[in-house]
Amino acid sequence: MTDTAFALLKPQLDNADGVALWIADENLLNQASKVNPAITVISNRFDLCQQLESAGWQSQFSDFDFSPYADHSVDNIIYRVSKEKPVVHHIINQAIRVLKPGGTLALAGLKNEGIKTYLDKAKKLFAGQMEASKSDKNTWMGILQSPGSAATELLDDQDYCRLRDVASDDHLSYISKPGVYGWNKIDKGSALLISALPQFIASLASPPKSLLDLGCGYGYLALNGASLGCLVTATDNNAGALLACTENFRQQQIDGHIIAADCAEGIDQRFPLILCNPPFHQGFSIEGDMTDRFLKAAHRHLQPDGIACFVVNLHIPLERKAKKLFSTIEVIADNGSFKLIRLAQPH
Ligand SMILES: C[S@@+](CC[C@H](N)C(=O)[O-])C[C@H]1O[C@@H](n2cnc3c(N)ncnc32)[C@H](O)[C@@H]1O
Repeated sequence: MTDTAFALLKPQLDNADGVALWIADENLLNQASKVNPAITVISNRFDLCQQLESAGWQSQFSDFDFSPYADHSVDNIIYRVSKEKPVVHHIINQAIRVLKPGGTLALAGLKNEGIKTYLDKAKKLFAGQMEASKSDKNTWMGILQSPGSAATELLDDQDYCRLRDVASDDHLSYISKPGVYGWNKIDKGSALLISALPQFIASLASPPKSLLDLGCGYGYLALNGASLGCLVTATDNNAGALLACTENFRQQQIDGHIIAADCAEGIDQRFPLILCNPPFHQGFSIEGDMTDRFLKAAHRHLQPDGIACFVVNLHIPLERKAKKLFSTIEVIADNGSFKLIRLAQPH
């Protein structure tokens, strides 16, 4: 599916020169554009960086880290707005810092994503220097020209880069930051999974020596699973999640591995225990695709006598999808919102 907002930005990508940055997030998976060697892509999505690098783009996988760029050192920035407001505000704030006087920020998005509000705010920050256009009544782009002076008041990005305490329970406290899935709370489904962990692992012949947290976010499942005394591996596709998880491991003194990967691809190890709260959707791809991909990843990484513990919303037909991959599929709990599913005997 072509994204109309991205389509508006394509000529900007083709024509960018000097020092140019394309800020890309999950919305842009599978959206093709001709390679422009002047551009460095910055993305917080590992899969997108891999995809763009294999297509010939230069990319930097980071949590939208602009610190390598000095003040007023960049000529063009191209950005299709993200879903989350703090991310968008962070990028607009950084753009005003790093752009040279006369350098441009091309910003596009859809009306229901708040693009008009973003353009209004950015226009103020850029001292009124903006050229706006639209391709249909829902899709807008603004090209903002840097006045070269520092902005007096930046947009509220909720202190985007700062790792902070966000939640705690009877056992642990958790560190996270904006840009991470459900960053300022404990996910209810994940809490349910952890409360049922003894029930999940009761069927194992011996205590697990290692576990994999598949799609770890800030590391809630991994941190709680570590209390089983096993070696923990946590993996995610999102750079901010990996930063937060690393900090949580450091503070809780967990000696585990944290690995950037797309659905654990590139991890060769198999585990006796896998914990997973899979994402519903990714960019424009539908939830079914992601559920299937996470199930396949669990199948690839599970030891023959191991178990994979999943939590999903009730409406997700995980049991049906898992049939092709596992012989044992058991719903061990259902609280009216989430269900816990034990998968074993991969075939
Ligand atoms: C529902 S959240 C669960 C987060 C965490 N495990 C928890 O319990 O709070 C799903 C996680 O999957 C990650 N994710 C999405 N797509 C991914 C992919 N292709 N590969 C690996 N992780 C992915 C997201 O970044 C997010 O952290």
